Amino acid sequence: MDLGLENKVAIVTGAARGIGAATARRLAAEGASVVIADINGEGAAATAAAMQADGLKAHAVAGDITVAADVDRLMAETLERFGGVHILVNNAGFPRDGRLTKLTETDWDLVVDVILKGAFLASKAVMPHMIEQRWGRIVNISSRAHLGNPGQANYSAAKAGIIGLTRALSLEEGRYEITVNAVAPGFIETEMVQELPHYAQIKERVVRGTPIPRVGRPDDIADAVAFLASERAGFISGETLHVTGGRYAS
Ligand SMILES: NC(=O)c1ccc[n+]([C@@H]2O[C@H](COP(=O)([O-])OP(=O)(O)OC[C@H]3O[C@@H](n4cnc5c(N)ncnc54)[C@H](O)[C@@H]3O)[C@@H](O)[C@H]2O)c1
Repeated sequence: MDLGLENKVAIVTGAARGIGAATARRLAAEGASVVIADINGEGAAATAAAMQADGLKAHAVAGDITVAADVDRLMAETLERFGGVHILVNNAGFPRDGRLTKLTETDWDLVVDVILKGAFLASKAVMPHMIEQRWGRIVNISSRAHLGNPGQANYSAAKAGIIGLTRALSLEEGRYEITVNAVAPGFIETEMVQELPHYAQIKERVVRGTPIPRVGRPDDIADAVAFLASERAGFISGETLHVTGGRYAS
């Protein structure tokens, strides 16, 4: 299936590593020019350089997605380097876990800001360009945790919130051929989850409870995002695609 991504320009936030990096590579392999946006400037540069070495079109921009001035610079560099923007993947995010009684205000603010404010600022920055060209794709990375996970009140609330953002924007901008969808991954083996305390036990429990008995890979998410970002998904909007090995239904 030709995804029609040749000559499209994509911004992927949090793309220095993990799901974001896999998504950036997948979009670029389909012919897109991809901006690797990440607060980890060194990691972003390394990811972009590795992609360029493989003949892919990539450019790194360092910045904090929760800071409006950084997002403005991200947009300016994207336009200067690649001349437009067609696809935004709001992927930057992280958990700060703890039961509510232990959760600090900082844990709350950090998680809600990176997931919700980051997606808000980036979407607001790209939207005028997508409206003007009468074509756009926004894919927001939610999580199966939007259903509610104990010890993740902040993360669950933010990942549910991003589904609300997805639906609202899909209703606002559909008339411009702009689709807005979410992907809700299950347990995907990235450095983020490998850094969790009790990682080995969590992994074993997750695999036992997953109908397709393995953990997810970053490429599982990259494939779903690439489809939703493509020409082929032009009549799909406001949806949340669960990529959980069947665990969503169990
Ligand atoms: N790995 C999983 O099991 C899983 C499951 C469901 C959802 N997700 C979501 O997928 C996304 C990617 O997760 P991952 O596992 O690849 O994580 P990761 O930690 O490997 O990658 C996240 C990237 O985001 C960047 N980042 C963090 N804060 C930022 C900021 N303020 N501005 C810009 N960049 C920032 C980090 O530097 C990092 O490169 C996250 O939104 C996460 O919540 C992951």
